[in-house]
Order: sequence, then C-alpha cells, then structure tokens
Amino acid sequence: MSNLYKNLANVYDEIYQTIFDYDAEFEFYDSILTKNNIKDVIEIGCGTGNLAKRFVAKNYTYLGVDLSQNMLDIAAKKVPSANFQQGNICDLALNRKSDSVLITGRTISYLLTNKSIKDAFRNIYLGLNSGGVLIFDAIDASALFRDFIEPKTDELAVKFKKSEYKRISKSTVNLASGWTWDWESSYFKKDENGHFKNIGDDFATLRAFTKDEIILFLNYSGFELLEITPKQSYAWKDDFYIARKI
Ligand SMILES: C[S@@+](CC[C@H](N)C(=O)[O-])C[C@H]1O[C@@H](n2cnc3c(N)ncnc32)[C@H](O)[C@@H]1O
Repeated sequence: MSNLYKNLANVYDEIYQTIFDYDAEFEFYDSILTKNNIKDVIEIGCGTGNLAKRFVAKNYTYLGVDLSQNMLDIAAKKVPSANFQQGNICDLALNRKSDSVLITGRTISYLLTNKSIKDAFRNIYLGLNSGGVLIFDAIDASALFRDFIEPKTDELAVKFKKSEYKRISKSTVNLASGWTWDWESSYFKKDENGHFKNIGDDFATLRAFTKDEIILFLNYSGFELLEITPKQSYAWKDDFYIARKI
C-alpha cells in the first residue's frame, strides 16, 4: 500500500483539505443523489472521512470503505457516528446493500489491472440495490498521455492551519498494465526554525483511463452509463462517470 495512506495518512489529511475541493465534490454527489431520490451511500476509498463528514451532516445513511486502516482511524475520529469497513474493494463483500456506491478521490487509479476493475465492479454490483447508482471519478488517459514529457516534475506548497508542507513529485511513464505511470513524491514540513524537513516519501503506480475503456468495463459488469461530466481538479484532467445497475 502507498506510504501516503500509511505513515503519511495525517499529512494526506491536511494537504488534501487544501488541494481537493470537498465542498464542491459533495455538492456534485448530493445533487445527483437528490435527483435520484437517494439518501443512502457507500463510499469506496473514503480515506480520512472528509466526504463522510458532509454526508453524515446531511443525514445520509453512510458506509465508508477503505484499504488503509490508518486512513480509517482518522476518518472514525472525525466522524464517530459513521460506519466504516476496512478492506480491498477487489476482494470484499460490502457490509450492506445501498442505493448508491461512490468511488471517490480517484481511488480507481489504484486498480491497475483489468481484472481488479472487473472484481471491484462485481463487488459493487452485488452491493447495490436494483437500479442503484454508481458514481466515480477517473483520470483521463488521453489528456495525460498525449504530451507526457518525461520526467514530469512538479512542486506543491500548501498551508493548513499552523502547518506548512511542500511536496516534490516526479512522474514517469510505466504502461505495464494499461495507461499507468509511476509517481514518486517526497513530503517536507516546515520545522520550528523555518526549515523544510523531509517527513517521508511515497511511491505509487497510478492508472488513467480512456472513456471507451470505462464504458466497456461498465457494460461488461452490468451497468449502463448515464452521463460523463468533466470534473474541476487541481492536477490531471478527470471526469465523473455516472452509471446505473441494469
Ligand atoms: C487519493 S485517496 C482518496 C481518499 C478520499 N476519497 C479523498 O477524496 O480524500 C485514495 C484512497 O483509496 C484507498 N484505496 C486504494 N486502493 C483501494 C482498494 N483496492 N480498496 C479500497 N480502498 C482503496 C486508499 O487507501 C486511499 O485512502
């Protein structure tokens, strides 16, 4: 598992509250669910509970699922009244059925093989009530790989409350199992003397998808695509996919 979700889980929680727009994401999910008269959500890849907090505040019946116990520990502290389940979506039975399943924050990027997508969609299918809705975001492979100049580097600086962080990242093409690339990052935090000190490194292989690939995975797994909507994001172009269990 990525170190970002293990030893750096607290750092993830602080940094991503500044770079992800959880209010906008929640509003998007809430608007689709409200349109479909749904008040019941399972969130896959719920991480540290930043969407859980918003779903619970709006009286949704909520279950959050994540591979990382460290991420779930933070989520459970943040939202004590929510239900959480630890496990890998590729090989678990969801604790209960729901009218909607969301895969949030590009969690699908961690499913590197076609088989892992097939298994995850199968488990989600079984966890959805008849006619239930599946919504997720995925990074657009066409936008990312069209002009992938290596090595791609970037530096991010963020402030969260009293903490100041820097992240230096490098991306290199991998392509071992789909539109995949390797993402290496070093995280730094400002100490009391004003110096940025390395607090940990992370390595992850991530996957982007073409729209056709996603549509095929959905159809193959018993879903019909309802809509693709562009998502506003801080890096990498991605889209929301909205589908219904047939
Ligand atoms: C980028 S984070 C997104 C977290 C949260 N949705 C957010 O927006 O802050 C990806 C999350 O997916 C989880 N994850 C990765 N692979 C998973 C899998 N196979 N099953 C369940 N969770 C997984 C990670 O542990 C991590 O918490």
